[in-house]
Amino acid sequence: MPRHRRTGLTRLTRYLRGRWGRVAVLSLIGVCAAAAPVSALLVVQDAIDNGMRAQDHRRLAIDVVIYLGINAAAWILASTLVRGLANVGQGVVLGLREDLFDHLTQLSLRYFSQQKAGWIIARLTSDVDALSDVLSQGLTTLVVNTLTLMAAIVGLFVLDWRLGLVALVILPPTLVLTRWFQVRSHAAFLRVRETISSMTAQIAESVAGMAVVQAFNRERAFLDEFDKANAANRSTNTHAQYLNSLFFPGIEFLGAIAMVSVLWVGGRMLANGSLSIGTLVASVFVLNLVFQPLQELSDLYGQVQSAGAAMEKISSVLDTEPEIRDAPAATRLPRIEGDLHIDRVTFAYGRDPVLHAIDIRVPPGGCLALVGESGGGKSTTAKLVGRFYDPDEGAVLVDGHDLRTVELRAYRRQLGVVLQDSFLFAGTIADNLRFAQPGATDDEVAAVAKAVGVDRIARRFERGLLHEVREGGAGLSAGERQLISIARALLADPRILILDEATSNIDRPTEILIEKALDRLLHGRTSIIIAHRLATVRRADEILVVEHGRITQRGPFDELLAEPGPFRELAAQLQGSDDLHSEPVTGSRPRSSASVASSEPE
Ligand SMILES: Nc1ncnc2c1ncn2[C@@H]1O[C@H](COP(=O)(O)OP(=O)(O)OP(=O)(O)O)[C@@H](O)[C@H]1O
Ligand SMILES: [Mg+2]
Repeated sequence: MPRHRRTGLTRLTRYLRGRWGRVAVLSLIGVCAAAAPVSALLVVQDAIDNGMRAQDHRRLAIDVVIYLGINAAAWILASTLVRGLANVGQGVVLGLREDLFDHLTQLSLRYFSQQKAGWIIARLTSDVDALSDVLSQGLTTLVVNTLTLMAAIVGLFVLDWRLGLVALVILPPTLVLTRWFQVRSHAAFLRVRETISSMTAQIAESVAGMAVVQAFNRERAFLDEFDKANAANRSTNTHAQYLNSLFFPGIEFLGAIAMVSVLWVGGRMLANGSLSIGTLVASVFVLNLVFQPLQELSDLYGQVQSAGAAMEKISSVLDTEPEIRDAPAATRLPRIEGDLHIDRVTFAYGRDPVLHAIDIRVPPGGCLALVGESGGGKSTTAKLVGRFYDPDEGAVLVDGHDLRTVELRAYRRQLGVVLQDSFLFAGTIADNLRFAQPGATDDEVAAVAKAVGVDRIARRFERGLLHEVREGGAGLSAGERQLISIARALLADPRILILDEATSNIDRPTEILIEKALDRLLHGRTSIIIAHRLATVRRADEILVVEHGRITQRGPFDELLAEPGPFRELAAQLQGSDDLHSEPVTGSRPRSSASVASSEPE
C-alpha cells in the first residue's frame, strides 16, 4: 500500500478523538452481533442431532426458543451498531470537512492563483462525499462483515476442524485474486476520481466565465472540451466495472468450490460415521456465512478504493503548508502609527522578478500614489504591503517591524484594502459593509454609507441598504461596487489603507461620489493609492511612477508635471478622460504602452 494511503488513514483516526469510548462499545456490540448468527447455527446443529434424530421434543423446543432469542438479540445489536457507526462516520466527515475548509482559508494567495477553483471545490464536495459514503454505510458493512467472516471461520472449526481445513482450500486462490484486483482497481479508481475532478473544474470555470464564453461564441468549444472530460470519465468507469466483472463472479465461483469440497468430504465422513448430519448441515450454513461477507466486503472494496483515492487528494490539500503565517514568536502590533517602509524589495511570482529593489517610504498619515503602465507591478506592491506574499529580498516594515515578524491577524485588523476588482459577497449591501466589522451597529453602517455616498446608490433600490447583492457583486455597476468596497474599508477604520483603483469607466456622478469618499477615507491614515485618474493622483503627497517593476520617477504632483518624464506622458494620456480635473498639460506626447486608463481589472 502506498505510503500516503496510510497517512490518510491515520489522518482519519485523528477525528475519532473523544469518540474512542463509543468506538470501543460499538466494537463490543459488533463482536456480539457477528457471533450471533454463527452461534445460532450451533443451536441448529444441536436441534438436528440431539432434538430431531434423538426424538427429544423438549430439547427441540428449547433449541427453537434459544434460536429465536439469539436472532432477536442480533436484530437489536445490529440496528444499534448501524446507527452508532453512522454517527461516528458522520462525525469524522464533519471534522474533516471543517478542517479542510479551515485549512483552505489559511492558504496563501499564490495557492489560489495556481490551483483551479473547480479542483479545490471537488476536494470539498465529491471527495468528501466519497469518504462520507464509506464512513456512514461502508463502515457498518466493513465491521459487521469482517467480524461475521471471522466468527464463521471459527464456527466452522468448532463444528468440525476437518471440514474447516477443507474449506480453506480456496484461501490461496482468493488471496491471489484479491491482490490482483487491489492493484488494478486502485489505479482505476484514482483515474476515476481524477476525471471527476477535471469535470468539476471545467464546470466551475465555464460557470464563472459564461458571459465571455457566450460573447465569443465559444459554447461549442467548451462543450467539446466537456464532452472529452465526460468521455474520459466514462471509459475509466467502464474499465473499473470490467475489473469488477472479473473479480466478483470469480470470488463467487471460489465459494462454490469450497461448498463442493465440504459436501464431498463431509458426505464421505457422514458415510463412514465420523460426522453427524447436524454438523454437516450446520457447516454448510456456516460456510454461507463465510462467503456472503466475503462478497459484501469485495463489493465495499470499490467504495473503499474510491475513498482512498479521494483521501489522497484531500491530504494533498491538507499537506500544503500555508506560505504566509505567523512566525513562532510573532509580535502583536499595538495601534499602528502608520510609518510604512518598503525596503529594497525584490519579488517574483514565479522565476522572473516583477519588482526590482523597490524602495518606498510613507510617513505616518502620508498619502502615496502609484501610477504607471499596466503590468508594471503596482498591485503587486500593494499585495506585499497587505502581506499576501512575502518579498524575496528586502522587507516591508511597518513602524519599524518587519511584517514577517508580526502577528498577521493583529496587523490586518488595522489594514484596509480596496482591491482592484472589489469583490462583494452574496448578501445585503449592509452585510457587505459590515464584512470587516461584523459588530458594527446599524447606525454606524448608515453613517459610513452616507459619508461615502453608498446611501445614494441604495436609495435606488426598494429595500435600500438591505438590497440583496449577488455573489461577486453581480447586479451592481463597477463604480457602485467600488464605492461599496470603499465604504467597507472605511467602516473597518484602518490605520493603513491600500486602494487599488478600478480602471473601469465610471460615470461623472459616481466619480464625484468616489472622490468625496476618498477624502473621507484617506484622512488621517497612511495610504497607498494606485490611481488611474488624475483627480485621484493629485491628492497624493508623493507620486511614484512604476515601470517594469522599477520606480522611474518620484515627486509631488506639480513638480512631476513641470518636468519632462514618464509622468508627463502618463498625465497627457489621462487628460483625455479627465480634462475636467487637470490643468492643461503641454508638450507631452502620448505613449501607447503607458496606458493607465485602459488596464484591465484583475
Ligand atoms: N498571481 C500572479 N502570478 C504570476 N504573475 C503575476 C500574478 N499577478 C501578477 N503577475 C504579473 O506581475 C506583473 C505585475 O502585475 P501587477 O498586477 O502588479 O501590475 P499592475 O501594475 O497592478 O497593473 P494594472 O495597472 O494593470 O493593474 C505582471 O507582469 C503580471 O503579469
Ligand atoms: Mg493592478
